[in-house]
Amino acid sequence: MADDDERLVSPEPADEGEDSIEKSLRPQTLQQYIGQDPIKHELRVYIQAAKQREESLDHVLLYGPPGLGKTTMAMVIANEMGVQIRTTSGPAIEKPGDLVALLNELQPGDILFIDEIHRLPKIVEEMLYSAMEDFYIDIVVGQGPTAHPVHFPLPPFTLIGATTRAGLLSAPLRDRFGIVEHMAYYRTEDLQEIVQRSAAIFNTTIATEGAHEIALRSRGTPRIANRLLKRIRDFAEVSPDHSTIDVAIVDHALNLLRVDSAGLDRTDIKLLRTMIDYYDGGPVGLGTLAANVGEETETVAAMYEPYLLQRGYLKRTARGRVVTAAGYEHLGIEMPHHD
Ligand SMILES: Nc1ncnc2c1ncn2[C@@H]1O[C@H](COP(=O)(O)OP(=O)(O)OP(=O)(O)O)[C@@H](O)[C@H]1O
Ligand SMILES: [Mg+2]
Repeated sequence: MADDDERLVSPEPADEGEDSIEKSLRPQTLQQYIGQDPIKHELRVYIQAAKQREESLDHVLLYGPPGLGKTTMAMVIANEMGVQIRTTSGPAIEKPGDLVALLNELQPGDILFIDEIHRLPKIVEEMLYSAMEDFYIDIVVGQGPTAHPVHFPLPPFTLIGATTRAGLLSAPLRDRFGIVEHMAYYRTEDLQEIVQRSAAIFNTTIATEGAHEIALRSRGTPRIANRLLKRIRDFAEVSPDHSTIDVAIVDHALNLLRVDSAGLDRTDIKLLRTMIDYYDGGPVGLGTLAANVGEETETVAAMYEPYLLQRGYLKRTARGRVVTAAGYEHLGIEMPHHD
């Protein structure tokens, strides 16, 4: 079975090497940030208004699948606001003291970015309520008989939370974000532009059609587009007659790497085929399906299913997952007629 760490079209970062490459590719301003136009338009207004009033920006919640640029957007917002950003993640803030330490370092207007905010411990989350709403926290200092509450005022700050699972956020926390933005999968033309921009940063020449082909096969996800570009660049560089990345090289490389015309890899195909071959196209429960392809249910739910749903190859029904007509068509299999 495909190893997660090895999965070329995984939306999660591959390793630290990829992390540092991503940093070099990160857009710095809203102007450079490609795609997500509705979000950019709104944020432009809110940022300008906050700056005019000389206030901190309202708290922002960014949610959507991994690799779509939530962290990047948080950094862009900080840059546009002209403030410092401190980055942490839900699981890293283990106890109230950790949160106090973070908040204590903020200057007025600064941003605290909490990635995976749905994984904050409950006790920390509850402290955030007053911090977000009225810029103070109440903490208990000391132990035993000397313990006493301390009212701790905070500078006005902006919390930016990111999560892949908005549904896992408690209502009281979600309600404290004034700005809530859903990041959607990217359109092909936007991904194409991202690929062209990254190629320019890599000093690689790429044909328009080559960038378009990579965009089609990147699952709507900039992280995957950049990763595929990096691998394809290797193929282009070692081929004697092709230093430019054209469609032929993209196609050759991605076929070898087993990424199909819609960006599906072997596991995606196996999922669909299992449903068709053994369950007559469904409905199949997610757990059953996961067991059949040797993956955890959670992995299938988080890493495979969302894109298949988004492409319209799978749909959810009350009784389980079903392969759609488009799914059959993509695999070149005739859909059986049921009556
Ligand atoms: N709009 C964009 N324009 C250009 N490049 C982008 C854009 N969005 C993301 N990228 C690229 O994709 C990479 C991944 O983005 P980022 O790390 O911000 O995703 P994320 O949504 O925070 O992912 P995760 O959920 O895994 O934390 C970035 O390093 C950047 O290179
Ligand atoms: Mg991130």
